[in-house]
Amino acid sequence: MADETVPCEHHNGSGGHDSFVLFCFILSEGCPLLEQLNISWCDQVTKDGIQALVRGCGGLKALFLKGCTQLEDEALKYIGAHCPELVTLNLQTCLQITDEGLITICRGCHKLQSLCASGCSNITDAILNALGQNCPRLRILEVARCSQLTDVGFTTLARNCHELEKMDLEECVQSLSHCELVTDDGIRHLGNGACAHDQLEVIELDNCPLITDASLEHLKSCHSLERIELYDCQQITRAGIKRLRTHLPNIKVHAYFAPVTPPPSVGGSRQRFCRCCIIL
Ligand SMILES: *[C@@H]1O[C@H](CO)[C@@H](O)[C@H](O)[C@H]1NC(C)=O
Ligand SMILES: *[C@@H]1O[C@H](CO)[C@@H](O)[C@H](O)[C@H]1NC(C)=O
Repeated sequence: MADETVPCEHHNGSGGHDSFVLFCFILSEGCPLLEQLNISWCDQVTKDGIQALVRGCGGLKALFLKGCTQLEDEALKYIGAHCPELVTLNLQTCLQITDEGLITICRGCHKLQSLCASGCSNITDAILNALGQNCPRLRILEVARCSQLTDVGFTTLARNCHELEKMDLEECVQSLSHCELVTDDGIRHLGNGACAHDQLEVIELDNCPLITDASLEHLKSCHSLERIELYDCQQITRAGIKRLRTHLPNIKVHAYFAPVTPPPSVGGSRQRFCRCCIIL
């Protein structure tokens, strides 16, 4: 067996918990090759069930625990200790988990590529540090409504997780400017998603040191786009902006080009001191 989705019929029923523990026990005895398990919305699941489950399922690669609202840090400690192969973990709306539990996941699951902790509002920057230090392959991080996360944490994360390509930071109110993380690949996904549905009207990429003209290429089919901010995007060129304009003639582009290295002396010295003069 490589894949299992468990329907949760017992949302509020008294038998839900016990039968789940039994289910996990059977599973852990008989399914050492299980790679993927989805017990989302099984809100009767507690640490006992998780303990029984992970003990015999060291090969789990994907675990979906969305809406398992009873899960506490203790459950995460079992997962961290027994699931070294874990690549995908969804803990959305597991409201009781905190840094303590999630850090043990980071330390035990170095192969993690996708983590969803949206709605887990008690987590802090300590998680972003732990992910940066332990999970270099992280590609997808969803932390919507985790309002304690700040730029400081995201910067640490970006420094260490170079494969990041998607982040959901909706309502991370302290982190309106997290642009250091954004890469061309991230913009490509944005282009494929938001632009395809004509949703994107404004994109502020100021101070995004990683993005290049390739990002502008990914946005050229965004016909709803009215304004783009590119201040301090050192890798964006005038030629790239010009190409974007051929596709989106009405777009407002705000950018300036600060010299990264001193310009050659030929051509006069005026330009050297003009750091923010070209508003397009
Ligand atoms: C997990 O199960 C839930 C509920 O049955 C379902 O809505 C969801 O799409 C499943 N997720 C995955 C990744 O299979
Ligand atoms: C989460 O934070 C809230 C508000 O600070 C606090 O009341 C609650 O006890 C915390 N939950 C846990 C599980 O630590």
